[in-house]
Amino acid sequence: MNTVRDLIRQSKTLTGPFPEFPINEAPGLPHELFLEWFQTAIDHAIPEPHSVALSTIDENGAPDARVLIIKDVDQDGWYFASSSLSKKGKQIEFNPNVALTFYWPGVGRQVRIRGKAIKMDIDQSANDFLKRGMMARAIALLEKQSSVLKDQLEFEEALAEGIKRIKQKPDLVSPSWVLYRVMAKEVEFWQADEERKHIRLKYTLEHNMWLRELLWP
Ligand SMILES: Cc1cc2nc3c(=O)[nH]c(=O)nc-3n(C[C@H](O)[C@H](O)[C@H](O)COP(=O)(O)O)c2cc1C
Repeated sequence: MNTVRDLIRQSKTLTGPFPEFPINEAPGLPHELFLEWFQTAIDHAIPEPHSVALSTIDENGAPDARVLIIKDVDQDGWYFASSSLSKKGKQIEFNPNVALTFYWPGVGRQVRIRGKAIKMDIDQSANDFLKRGMMARAIALLEKQSSVLKDQLEFEEALAEGIKRIKQKPDLVSPSWVLYRVMAKEVEFWQADEERKHIRLKYTLEHNMWLRELLWP
C-alpha cells in the first residue's frame, strides 16, 4: 500500500519543457517583465494566472497568508481588493509590509514581490466594488469577512438581505471594500530548469532605481 510519503515522492514537479528566460533581454522595470511572464502564462493556458498568495504579518509578528486575485498591474504596483475589516485588512493596517507570491506551474515560473500595501482612494475602491458580481457584492456588503459564522443559515439569511439591498439600490458600495496597491521594493523572477539549473533574477529598488542581480538557485 502506498504511504503518504510514497504518494508525495511519486508526485512529479518541474518536469518541463519550460519557456526560455533570456536574462540579458530582461526589461529594466520589474512590472514589464511581470507582464511578459503573465502573457506567457496565459498563452500556456495556466489556470487562474491572476491568483496569488498574499502574505501579511499580524500584531504579534507572526506571518499569515491566503490566496486572492490581483486586479491590475502597472508601473506603480500590483493591485488587489478586499475588506479592510478582514483579518488581512487589520494586519495591513497594523503593518503594511506584505509579500505576493505567484506560481505558474507548467511554465515553471515563480514571482516573489515584497513591499508595502497602501489603500487606494474611495473612488477607486468603489469602482472595483461595482465591477464585482451581484453575489460577491452582496457578501461584501455584510462587512463580516473573517469573523466567526454561527452556521450556514445565518449566512443565507444575511445574504438574502444583502441581495435585497442591492436590488433596491444597485450602486450600493461597501464602505470597507478597499483596493490596495502593493508598492514593490523587491521582485524576484524564478525560472525552473529541467536539469535543476534554475535561474533567479532579482530586481531591487535603490534610490528610485531598479537594480538587477542574479541569485544562486
Ligand atoms: C482563487 C481565490 C481567489 C480569491 N480572491 C479573493 C479576493 O480577491 N479578495 C478577497 O478578499 N479574498 C479572496 N479570496 C479568499 C481569501 O483567500 C481569504 O479566504 C479571505 O480573503 C479572508 O482572508 P483573511 O481572513 O486572511 O482576511 C480568494 C480565494 C481564492 C482561493
